[in-house]
Amino acid sequence: MAKPRLNWTAEPWDDSEPLECTMIVPEAPGCATITFRAPSGAWFDYQPGQFLTLDLSAAAVQRTYTISSSPSRPLSISITVKAQDGSIGTRWMLDHLRPGMRLKAYGPSGAFSLLRHPAAKYLFISAGSGITPMMSMTTWAWDSGHMPDIAFVHAARTPAEIIFRHTLEQMAARVPGLHLHLTVDSVPPFAVWHGYRGRLTQIMLALMAPDYLEREVFCCGPAPFMAGVREMLEALGFDLARYHEESFAAPSPVEVPVEASPPPGDAVIEFAAAGITVECRSDDTVLAVARQAGLNIPSGCTFGLCGTCKTRKLSGEVNMVHNGGISDDEIAEGYILACCSKPQGTVRIDL
Ligand SMILES: Cc1cc2nc3c(=O)[nH]c(=O)nc-3n(C[C@H](O)[C@H](O)[C@H](O)COP(=O)(O)OP(=O)(O)OC[C@H]3O[C@@H](n4cnc5c(N)ncnc54)[C@H](O)[C@@H]3O)c2cc1C
Ligand code: FES
Repeated sequence: MAKPRLNWTAEPWDDSEPLECTMIVPEAPGCATITFRAPSGAWFDYQPGQFLTLDLSAAAVQRTYTISSSPSRPLSISITVKAQDGSIGTRWMLDHLRPGMRLKAYGPSGAFSLLRHPAAKYLFISAGSGITPMMSMTTWAWDSGHMPDIAFVHAARTPAEIIFRHTLEQMAARVPGLHLHLTVDSVPPFAVWHGYRGRLTQIMLALMAPDYLEREVFCCGPAPFMAGVREMLEALGFDLARYHEESFAAPSPVEVPVEASPPPGDAVIEFAAAGITVECRSDDTVLAVARQAGLNIPSGCTFGLCGTCKTRKLSGEVNMVHNGGISDDEIAEGYILACCSKPQGTVRIDL
């Protein structure tokens, strides 16, 4: 076994340094927590709930994952990944990533953090792998030394698929402020289950967190699950200004009638450093046009959330519809997100 390294540096990690995989811990079927360290010994500074984008170049893809560890334990950083059927990137990590291997990462980024919304009481609602930001924020609250007041509601298909179940049950059994409520779709024959069964309902929520109206809500899970939670809270009179959600997948695309599609060649992108000019359509994204031209812009979510594809625009106009992956200051400085920016006329990009 490699000797643990104890001489950490005072420098925080930045994403110019690749991450080295140190540990892989199975969590549930098709799901594992993967831990990394900085080979230089740098420590990790981020907000609980933020994410990283990993360059899985051996699988020829980049994927974004919430950091499931907490910045209160800054010597390593972990993600918890769950492979769905047909998965390329996550499956590659589960099958091929091993301790000692290094990966390029981008980040940390993201605004889904309790640090941005300080409150006396929280309600975390998650489903499936959406538990990862909740785990990071709960560990952070625990480690901060104040008694947390967190109602932690999690939904999974079966008891065996509840990620972090034992860790959370152990934490909840030791302090009065962490209230863990688990619900599952089904229980295998002869299995023992004392939690809730079925989809989260208004009645269930009222039993789990009777004071939900007083809580700051963080929600993460599949899009239909989050839509259901949002609708339920709205119907119960909850102030949605205190509701925050993180989406792991792109919002459903808006159908554009074929006849509304612009003609080819109505826009032009000049990639200044590469000296390449491409004629395209004004509904192509800068990212897609760069890829067609053989140019690499790192990307993660591809729907304007993770910020990985941030690129500088030298001139021209783009139509950018993002999901929070870029700040107003960055836009004012001329940056765009290539995955969700469409050229209007001629645009010059610093690439
Ligand atoms: C902010 C953020 C945080 C996230 N955090 C986490 C996290 O903590 N844990 C986690 O597990 N995931 C997380 N994700 C999701 C993650 O980034 C990946 O999107 C997800 O894991 C799927 O990637 P994959 O490589 O496993 O599967 P992919 O290869 O992307 O496939 C996904 C699905 O698409 C289908 N598919 C793949 N290729 C094709 C094709 N050519 N045609 C048709 N269908 C296809 C597959 O069948 C599969 O069902 C997060 C995403 C975001 C944006
Ligand atoms: S790839 Fe995530 S914002 Fe563009």
